[in-house]
Amino acid sequence: MLEKKIFIKTFGCQMNEYDSNRIYDSVRKLGFTKTYDQSSADCYILNTCHIRDKAKDKVYHEIGRVKKLYRDKKKPIMVIAGCVAQAENEEMIKREPYIDIILGPQSYHKVNDLLKKHIINLKQEETEFDTISKFGYFDQIKNEDSKISSFLTIQEGCDKFCNFCVVPFTRGPEYSRPFNKIISEAEQLIENGVKEITLLGQNVNAYSYLENSKEYRLSNLINYLNQYSELERIRYTTSHPRDMTDDLIDCYSSSKKLMPFVHLPIQSGSNRMLELMNRKHTVDDYLNIYERLKKINKDIEFSSDFIIGYPGETQKDFEETYDLIKKIKFINSFSFIFSPRPGTKASTLQMIEKKNAKKRLTLIQDRLFNNQKEINKSMESQIIDVLVENKMEKQNKYFGRNKYISPVIFGADDSQIGKIVKVKIHTSNQNSLFGSIHKNMKAA
Ligand code: SAM
Ligand code: SF4
Ligand code: F3S
Repeated sequence: MLEKKIFIKTFGCQMNEYDSNRIYDSVRKLGFTKTYDQSSADCYILNTCHIRDKAKDKVYHEIGRVKKLYRDKKKPIMVIAGCVAQAENEEMIKREPYIDIILGPQSYHKVNDLLKKHIINLKQEETEFDTISKFGYFDQIKNEDSKISSFLTIQEGCDKFCNFCVVPFTRGPEYSRPFNKIISEAEQLIENGVKEITLLGQNVNAYSYLENSKEYRLSNLINYLNQYSELERIRYTTSHPRDMTDDLIDCYSSSKKLMPFVHLPIQSGSNRMLELMNRKHTVDDYLNIYERLKKINKDIEFSSDFIIGYPGETQKDFEETYDLIKKIKFINSFSFIFSPRPGTKASTLQMIEKKNAKKRLTLIQDRLFNNQKEINKSMESQIIDVLVENKMEKQNKYFGRNKYISPVIFGADDSQIGKIVKVKIHTSNQNSLFGSIHKNMKAA
């Protein structure tokens, strides 16, 4: 067997993070061990994201950096994985001979074979949409992830085709993994010591798996996982307003471990824009979900994604988005200026003036960031539950998250890692809360 080191640099969403971990699990069988030193790897993988502008340029820039790092050393096997690999495929090998392998997200089950072939000197490209074989392959390989909080992909791809979005082209059609395979992988994670599982999918709440005429949905997974006593917390992301079905909403009463935090992208507060974007939901649909969840538990908080300056956005449309943010005090959110993506319907539309888009983004972000600061400030002096994840590298402090996924930094000790502890919050900033363990109140 080979004795080689592999380094993976991951960009983009949580699904890429999950994929990178599974690639490590696969190549371990070939004798590759994970390294954190990016300048001494035998194989260097860039796991890329294509969601917004200059994605391709960023990849070439990264390759330039790797070339420099290895100038006086043996060149690593250079693999481009992820959504840019899918979108650009063999074009990249033609343009940049430093690349050895192009690997699309639905071909990760072929990574070991491609690496073996590479050693006999072949340039290769794999960008088939072969999701079933991919998960079939990874179901045979143990998930070794042992972080306190781990991701678990249950669904991939998207059939919704929002006019701005590249995901249906890079990840392919919607596919839901078999229910029992997800449960066995969750059991592996729990055995490894994982205390929080985030179920992942590009449209995670569209999860639907049929077996013997019974449909298994995200709600079934949540309720099933709720029974594992060693598991403390369950989360899911990213959900779509159209798939917030009654059974999922009911989970917020039935499952004690499902965290009261809903990341639900709306993109715009204007129905006209939602229609132009082909979102297939209205602002009222969204508010209805918000109100129903708040009725179940008033502590549930929302976060969202916004696209600002989508083609055709008027000042009135923008103001409607701004008003929505006033109505729903999102606990945190992502907001970006529209970026035309190759191959999508919106890429050919007339852009709004850049200056206007920038001005609107600043206004929206000021408001969102102020909300965030105020919410964090309101937690000062409170005693909150925190799941302790790890000791911080550069400080003698520990890192954990509260139920709303906000980072909490505090003094603790190693024995508390993996436990839910009570932390008294002293100070805060926009992103984080700072505190100390509340005496005599260590949770079991
Ligand atoms: N499936 C999720 C949904 O429907 O809301 C979103 C998944 S997408 C990976 C994450 C976010 O990227 C989107 O919610 C959107 O706000 C943003 N995004 C996608 N395409 C974009 C584009 N062309 N320009 C700017 N932001 C974009
Ligand atoms: Fe992209 Fe829309 Fe699918 Fe979300 S629902 S992944 S934004 S196409
Ligand atoms: Fe990016 Fe692909 Fe995720 S485009 S956001 S890495 S699905």
